[in-house]
Amino acid sequence: MPQTIFITGASTGLGRAAAVLFASKGWKVFATMRNPEKEADLAANPGITLLKLDVTRPEEISAAAEAALAAGPVDVLFNNAGYGLAGPFEGATDAQLVDQLNTNLLGVMRVTQAFLPAMRERRAGTIITTTSIGGLVTFPFNSVYHATKWGLEGWSESLAFELESFGIRVMTLAPGGIATDFASRSLVMTQHAAYAQDMGKTFAAFSDPERRAGGSTAEQIAQAAWDAVHDESGRVTHVAGADAKANYARRLELGVEAFRAEIRRIFLGR
Ligand SMILES: NC(=O)c1ccc[n+]([C@@H]2O[C@H](COP(=O)([O-])OP(=O)(O)OC[C@H]3O[C@@H](n4cnc5c(N)ncnc54)[C@H](OP(=O)(O)O)[C@@H]3O)[C@@H](O)[C@H]2O)c1
Repeated sequence: MPQTIFITGASTGLGRAAAVLFASKGWKVFATMRNPEKEADLAANPGITLLKLDVTRPEEISAAAEAALAAGPVDVLFNNAGYGLAGPFEGATDAQLVDQLNTNLLGVMRVTQAFLPAMRERRAGTIITTTSIGGLVTFPFNSVYHATKWGLEGWSESLAFELESFGIRVMTLAPGGIATDFASRSLVMTQHAAYAQDMGKTFAAFSDPERRAGGSTAEQIAQAAWDAVHDESGRVTHVAGADAKANYARRLELGVEAFRAEIRRIFLGR
C-alpha cells in the first residue's frame, strides 16, 4: 500500500520539490496550493493530486482535508506554506502582523487539527512542519517571522509529548537559506525611516555572497524532509542545510549571549 503525504504551499520552492520527490518514490501526494488551476506540470504527474488550499481560510482547510482523507489514510502531513515578513517591527502594520501569524502559525495549527482525529483513530501519522534556522536563532529585523518560527518549534516540541501515546510523531524541518522565491516574491517588507541605517547594514550582511554560499537547493531540503520522515530516532527538530547546521552548532557552542554578540557584530557592525 503506497504511503500518502499532504503538503501545503506546494506551488513553488520546497513544497513543490517535496511533492516531486515523494511522488518519484511511489508515494501518493496531495500537493495543495492557493491556485491549483494555474499548475500544469504537477497536475500531469500521475502520483500527484492537486487540491486548493489557502491555509488562512478555515473552510478551504476542511474541504482539502476531507477530500484527501476520503481517498484513504494520510500518513504524513507536511506543513510547509509560509512567507517572510522582514524590516523594522515598529513599522509593521496590523494587517502585516495578522497575515504573518495567520499564515505561518495559525495556518499550521488549523491544518494539523483537521488531520488529528483521523491520525489518532488510526494510531499512526507524522506531522512535519517547515520552521527555519530562524526558529532556533535570531537575526535583526525579522522579529515577527522569528515569532512564528520559534512558535512552531515550541508548539511542535510540546505537541510531540501529547501525541506520542497515540502513535503520532511530530517533527520540524529547520532549513537555512534555500534558493526559492522566498527572498523575492515571498518576502514582505515593513518600513520605518528611523531604522534605515541598521536595516541597510543587516540586509548587506544577508546579501553577502559568502553567507549565501552555504545555502541549499529546494531539492536538497526536500531530501532532508524525506530523511526526517524516515528517521526513527524520535528527534523533533531536524536542522537542514550546511549553513543552518553551522549556525545552530555555533549558538550551542558559544551559548546564547556570546552568539548574540557575534550576530550583532556581523549584522550591525558593533
Ligand atoms: N527559502 C528560504 O531561505 C527558507 C529558509 C528557511 C525556511 N523557509 C520556509 O520554507 C517554507 C517554504 O518556503 P520556500 O522557501 O519554498 O519559498 P516559496 O518558494 O516562496 O514558497 C512558499 C510557498 O508558501 C505558499 N504560501 C504562502 N502563503 C500561503 C497561504 N496563505 N496558503 C497556502 N500557501 C501559501 C506559497 O504559495 P503561492 O505560490 O500561492 O504564493 C508558496 O507555495 C516556508 O515555510 C518558509 O518560511 C524558507
